[in-house]
Amino acid sequence: MEDRGSLWLPEGTSTLAPAIDWLFNFVNFVSVILFVLVVGTMLYFVYKYRRRAPNERPAPITESKALELSWIVVPTILCLLVFTWGFKTFIRIGVAPPDAYEIQVRAQQWYWEFTYPEGFKTTGEIYVPEGRPVRLLMNSADVLHSFYIPSFRVKHDVIPGRYTSVWFEATKTGVYDVFCTEYCGTQHSYMGAKVHVVGQNEFNEWVETGGVGDLATLPLEQQGKIYASKLACVTCHSVDGAAGTGPTWKGLFGQAGHATSAGPVTADENYLRESILMPGAKIAQGYGNVMPANYSTLSADQVDALIAYMKTLQ
Ligand code: CUA
Repeated sequence: MEDRGSLWLPEGTSTLAPAIDWLFNFVNFVSVILFVLVVGTMLYFVYKYRRRAPNERPAPITESKALELSWIVVPTILCLLVFTWGFKTFIRIGVAPPDAYEIQVRAQQWYWEFTYPEGFKTTGEIYVPEGRPVRLLMNSADVLHSFYIPSFRVKHDVIPGRYTSVWFEATKTGVYDVFCTEYCGTQHSYMGAKVHVVGQNEFNEWVETGGVGDLATLPLEQQGKIYASKLACVTCHSVDGAAGTGPTWKGLFGQAGHATSAGPVTADENYLRESILMPGAKIAQGYGNVMPANYSTLSADQVDALIAYMKTLQ
């Protein structure tokens, strides 16, 4: 994927994409043709029938049955065609195949959380198998969001107190963008995620090791690194010193005189622990109190691992 924006949609990489692109292009094409015909004829008539002399009177116009019939019949056929085609496509988009792999999606200010049927969660990224229908059953924890994967041509509102869904079958391995396309607060434009489309074997492997339980076999700082990504910490806290929504973790541990809303502190284990579990207590200077409250429910093990990881970022 290229980083630069484009006027055009990215390449369609789901089984639904061609149907949507064909219909969209057809409607677009017909609209352009009609626009050119109507406006072209109008401009031509304005010129041809312009008034040439002050006392000029136009000749009476008689009706043309053929012309009138044509502008009734042709648009009617076009409308019915677009309706039938659109309705069929709409049904196809709306109804997932019964054997689809189902993933729960929870939208929350301002990240996406995915729960797999195998019983583990990911945040900010989702892995799906290539060539197999996937259904996302979606729901919001707070306000209206909208789930959009441009490459798959799927998009649907995500609503508190109600399930909505999208489904797709990815046709090409790769990493694709997810956007939130319903304004949902200050960090709306950063509420993205990545879809990793992988082969079925790689997907099975990922599912097997995706559960957080297996992490316990890894060294603590590596667990922390995985949590930092899984829990979407790295969305706001860079690990390389780059600016972000929250302070970078690079060089944070052990920093003396770290400026906060409660005065300077030493960024030791207790400060980091407090800042994860109660982010509002001592807010780093220059940043808002915007860390999502759900981090207060992290387990002691997760906090240990995250701090161990931060210690390695010197
Ligand atoms: Cu969530 Cu915009």
